Amino acid sequence: MSDKKVTLTVTGETPVELDVLQGTLGQDVVDVRSLGSKGLFTFDPGFTSTASCESKITYIDGDEGILLHRGYPIDQLATQSNYLEVCYILLNGEAPTQEQFEEFRTIVTRHTMIHEQITRLFHGFRRDSHPMAVMCGVTGALAAFYHDSLDVNLERHREIAAFRLLSKMPTVAAMCYKYSIGQPFVYPRNDLSYAGNFLHMMFATPCEEYTVNPVLERAMDRILILHADHEQNASTSTVRTAGSSGANPFACIAAGIASLWGPAHGGANEACLRMLEEISHKDHIPEFVKRAKDKNDSFRLMGFGHRVYKNYDPRATVMRETCHEVLNELGMKDDLLEVAMELEHIALNDPYFIERKLYPNVDFYSGIILKAMGIPSSMFTVIFAMARTVGWIAHWKEMHDEGMKIARPRQLYTGYAQREFESNLPK
Ligand code: SDX
Repeated sequence: MSDKKVTLTVTGETPVELDVLQGTLGQDVVDVRSLGSKGLFTFDPGFTSTASCESKITYIDGDEGILLHRGYPIDQLATQSNYLEVCYILLNGEAPTQEQFEEFRTIVTRHTMIHEQITRLFHGFRRDSHPMAVMCGVTGALAAFYHDSLDVNLERHREIAAFRLLSKMPTVAAMCYKYSIGQPFVYPRNDLSYAGNFLHMMFATPCEEYTVNPVLERAMDRILILHADHEQNASTSTVRTAGSSGANPFACIAAGIASLWGPAHGGANEACLRMLEEISHKDHIPEFVKRAKDKNDSFRLMGFGHRVYKNYDPRATVMRETCHEVLNELGMKDDLLEVAMELEHIALNDPYFIERKLYPNVDFYSGIILKAMGIPSSMFTVIFAMARTVGWIAHWKEMHDEGMKIARPRQLYTGYAQREFESNLPK
């Protein structure tokens, strides 16, 4: 609490004094909770100026391009930590001791299998279903199998569900891929790392030995870290809203997956690769940049711009480096990377993008890395959802731990005033 106040004066009415609350970092917030009782609502479609909750998990400074998870800078976590350690930090608030980490890793590793009956659930989908549709459906259906951890009011149930989700999402994600290509599901292996196990379940077949490439394993682990959490983005806000009604965690995460799928959000990585493929050559870039600036054209540069970052997305910087590492390791020269680098150069020097502070975001380079790893673009957002599951769980857990009210925004109503009903249908 601060001693700062805001006084709101509606013409001809008594001024209303509101508290200004200060966080550890970032903007102060005006506490408007009492406004409703004074007959006023705030109006903020898209929540461009709204703090929906208090949180201790992630901090973003969009102007400075800063991203902290429990205070730790993302570039340090991406280069010095591993995804499971970052999961522990996001969920528990502190870096684990060696003993705490081993216990955490053992629990996650030993819950990676899913109920065998769930494999039949996949067969209800067409083989050419988008993997995100399958992932969304199967994740929601986990509630139909794991009845013993659905009482969200019990901390132990919340913990069991959290571990089940963290453990099983790579298995579900890889199964979505295997199902889409008509290959048999590959069971998880407890001797592999989280990222290594995922790659194994994605690419191993019963016909031959599959060895995880350590450079690709490291790159996948880094991609998972870079996508783990990002404050109150659209899908995390969706999870919090769903969770605020007391909905079970599997349903809340399925809601998050659905929201993430949109091309303005997590679907941008798939859309960005499709855009680069459509551009196909550096010579075509000016035409697409022209379209992106044309108000009458709905086309936007996918992988560019961000609601919060008005500077370079710090995750994009790390992703760019990882992109070069993977391509060098694979001895690949990806034409799309050439197009991406030229597009980035052109956009970063174009007044339209400079004035609007539009920089490459996390989705700009991730698609090129995943494509180089042999992963189809339809799986990009599935991998984003798998990585973000820990962030969604952390916020869902924080909401329950801190106590919550059901999310129930109001509106500015501009429809008809009351009128008498008279049907036009024959009596
Ligand atoms: C993610 O919120 C998060 O944290 C999300 C995320 C996470 O980790 O959870 O970081 C992941 O979703 C990253 C964003 C991925 N989306 C894309 O790359 C899709 C392309 N980007 C845009 O759709 C857009 O930039 C958004 C949706 C990301 C942000 O949109 P805003 O904040 O609502 O901004 P806006 O649409 O009001 O744009 C402001 C101006 C507009 O021009 P003017 O009306 O001022 O003339 O910038 C223009 C927009 O037309 N603009 C773009 C553009 N993005 C914004 N113009 C061309 N290409 C773009 N990509």
